[in-house]
Amino acid sequence: MSRDDLISTNAKIVNSVTRSILEHSKSPIIIVVSNPLDVMTYAAFKTAGLPATKVFGMAGILDTARYRAFLAEALQVSPKDIQAVLMGGHGDTMVPLPRYTTVAGIPVTELIDEARLSAIVERTKSGGGELVNLMGTSAWYAPGAAAAQMVEAIVKDENRIFPCCVNLSGQYGLHDTFVGIPVKLGKAGITEMIELKLNADEMKLLHDSSVAVKSVMDVYDGMGL
Ligand code: LAC
Repeated sequence: MSRDDLISTNAKIVNSVTRSILEHSKSPIIIVVSNPLDVMTYAAFKTAGLPATKVFGMAGILDTARYRAFLAEALQVSPKDIQAVLMGGHGDTMVPLPRYTTVAGIPVTELIDEARLSAIVERTKSGGGELVNLMGTSAWYAPGAAAAQMVEAIVKDENRIFPCCVNLSGQYGLHDTFVGIPVKLGKAGITEMIELKLNADEMKLLHDSSVAVKSVMDVYDGMGL
């Protein structure tokens, strides 16, 4: 299946499901999990006509979990002790942020050399492909567990901070795009979009990722779905 075939097929399903949700739920909060995730979040957002705080995508939790797992393996520590931030699109241009990664509060850059850290960042970007090669699919336990964490944060009003794919309207200097940023999740959906003080290199990576997402959004727009 070509990428465009995938976009067309999945967008029709996502849009149909979104319309059904609107019929049956008075005030839905929609978490998108379909690929290509960033653009399917865009499709659901446009179809739903709801605020950006109510329609968002699950990807950053999944990607961050892989980043933390790879780091834990390299450092021989528990993934439970690794906190990390990952932003950007759900694909090759995602942006794990070593500067915002700690191991039991210790900056990860004090525990691992730059070369190994960079290799783990690159491995994270292709984490989905690695699993497909191992298991024949990557849409398995981890994405489900990630989505469940988001649902639990909403249902229990936990105000957890997660990286979620969301429509940006000026945050990080980005407009009309859908990329992962840290957000606070509670019973109303997204209750806060968090703007980190990224340095120039980090901001460029995020903007580059947004450009990559926008190019696929343009493909979707061109389909007139
Ligand atoms: C992945 C797919 C599910 O990253 O997007 O594994």
